[in-house]
Amino acid sequence: MEFQDVLAARRMVRRYRTDPVPPETVERIARVVRRAPSAGFSQGHRLLVVTDPATRARVAECAEEFHYETEWISVAPVLMVLGVREDDYHDRYTQPDKLQDGKEMDWPAPYWWVDAGAFLTLIQLSAIDAGLATGFATVPRGEELRALLGLPADIAVVGVVTVGYPAEDAVRPADTARLRSMRKPLEDLVRYESW
Ligand SMILES: Cc1cc2nc3c(=O)[nH]c(=O)nc-3n(C[C@H](O)[C@H](O)[C@H](O)COP(=O)(O)O)c2cc1C
Repeated sequence: MEFQDVLAARRMVRRYRTDPVPPETVERIARVVRRAPSAGFSQGHRLLVVTDPATRARVAECAEEFHYETEWISVAPVLMVLGVREDDYHDRYTQPDKLQDGKEMDWPAPYWWVDAGAFLTLIQLSAIDAGLATGFATVPRGEELRALLGLPADIAVVGVVTVGYPAEDAVRPADTARLRSMRKPLEDLVRYESW
């Protein structure tokens, strides 16, 4: 797929067909975890793939499936729970080549969350490249999800990526029009040479 076409197709999709995604496609998408950028190559990303229908339904409950529309999270045949292990960053940034004045640096931003965003985008683009669509939902009931999936205590839940084949009406003109009407002018967002 041409990259410009991938970019144009990058939407958060909340309508999916129920057809399963071939395991090798799921694995191909999951493997991008090793290509995602990370501060200092800390590699704090973690990915948990859920396809079992009953578990998907419970994951959806933790993500408040009904707050946006109805039942879109559990319909997606593949759920990818994105996690991040902050300790990987502290471990990495206390190695000799990363110390500042003998100490772990003051973090300009929590790089583990910065990297989580980059990871989300990479997963999304990889899925689009495979002819799939993705959405994203945050998980207000993170501790319930942790218990459900046996996530270790040192892995924070970033959110859930829904993956599947888009339904015919996956991207509705009314939604697109609404986003277009909300889109900030480019000049509010980008400037050149000085602000
Ligand atoms: C950090 C983050 C959290 C989001 N949380 C949710 C969510 O909980 N539920 C949801 O339906 N969409 C969620 N979204 C999707 C946004 O609503 C969506 O990206 C935005 O409206 C722009 O639409 P587009 O991505 O289709 O262009 C989230 C996106 C991001 C990046």
